[in-house]
Amino acid sequence: MHHFSYCNGVLHAEGVPVPHLADEVGTPFYCYSQATLARHFRVFADALASLDATVCFAVKANTNLSVIRSLVQQGAGCDVVSGGELQLALKAGCAPEKIVFSGVGKTEAELRLALDCGVGQINVESEAELVTLSRLATTLGKTARIALRVNPDVDSGGHDKITTGRKEDKFGIEWTLAPALYRKARDLPGIDPSGVAVHIGSQITSLAPFEAAFLRVRDLIHMLRADGLDIRHLDLGGGLGVPYDHRGAAPPSPAAYGEMVKRVFGNIGCSFTFEPGRVIVGNAGILVSRVVAIKESSTRRFVIIDAGMNDLVRPAMYGALHEIIPVQEAPTSSTFEPVDVVGPVCETTDCFAKAYPLPALKAGDLVAFMTAGAYGAAMSSTYNARPLVPEVMVSGDKSSVIRRRPTFEEMTALEQLPSWMD
Ligand code: LLP
Repeated sequence: MHHFSYCNGVLHAEGVPVPHLADEVGTPFYCYSQATLARHFRVFADALASLDATVCFAVKANTNLSVIRSLVQQGAGCDVVSGGELQLALKAGCAPEKIVFSGVGKTEAELRLALDCGVGQINVESEAELVTLSRLATTLGKTARIALRVNPDVDSGGHDKITTGRKEDKFGIEWTLAPALYRKARDLPGIDPSGVAVHIGSQITSLAPFEAAFLRVRDLIHMLRADGLDIRHLDLGGGLGVPYDHRGAAPPSPAAYGEMVKRVFGNIGCSFTFEPGRVIVGNAGILVSRVVAIKESSTRRFVIIDAGMNDLVRPAMYGALHEIIPVQEAPTSSTFEPVDVVGPVCETTDCFAKAYPLPALKAGDLVAFMTAGAYGAAMSSTYNARPLVPEVMVSGDKSSVIRRRPTFEEMTALEQLPSWMD
């Protein structure tokens, strides 16, 4: 459920007509609904309410400070994967103890930052990282609460490029090797190995792979405890999918996910951390773009728009399909023709949808890409020297530009010519 809907034939973000925003900030732009963000966070948190759970928003899904802050105000912690994300979480007002630091290749500088600011948990992904962390923590006179991120060798069933829990994936520690590394962790100074973490991928649309992975983790916890380790924290990662295309099957609800977690871990005697990204923010954002031109060829009709793969890379990168709707609602009598919706970037893969049914559009019309709040703006780039697009947040009938479009001068401000060049 989201708060983008037609009102008097015009797409609104909560109480704000989308064309008003387009007039104000120009196109393309991202627009987020704060009520949708809050609702998704609440639904997810409520599904886990009977557990001792902290819901840490996976900041990588949307790194906008206002988005993070609005979730922190709802009670979210943050899951971060870089020093930059860690600083963003702190800047957004997240308490350090509600921050989990994940990531497969944390540098010494990032680990030191995490220790300095006292993050709640560091999810360690290799023996080398464990040894480094022990050395750094000892030098700083700290004890790092850690979980080993375990690779359970379970295929999430999702897109190959965002599946992380098979043993050939670079993530985590093979679950069969984990007990030995926990024993080592217990004997290292500056390390409190009291957690287990797992994350098997993203946009997962069935509960079965989660359950298979969680059962392995449950067995592992029993083994570790039998070995004398005091496992008290369980981090079950993120990964729950969202419906991108209303024609496809709906992924499991947070409530069904929560029930399954309780079934598997009922009275395991741990506190829980969850790291949802997409399911919180995906549906809470749209990308609005304007039609630049219609081009007819002998076999195709191209709708060329002013958003490109640099603004929303998911279709080009993963073959993802985001629902595209006209901002002016099509009259019920309109016929829908198959068109290719393409951007202006000089790459054939800069194509958002092929043979996609849309009502007749003309230059100047606005279209919206739905479910663009997760991994949309966060993955955008300036390819083709295109400026990052603005982000707007609405709340009721209020709207605010939460990231403006940079000027050309700002885009090039970090560059300088070598001294020998005139
Ligand atoms: N925790 C960890 C350790 C992760 O690596 C991720 C996502 C999450 C949590 C959040 O997963 P979510 O709940 O959002 O599925 N760019 C891709 C998705 C990459 C996901 C990376 N890791 C896309 O646009 O589909």
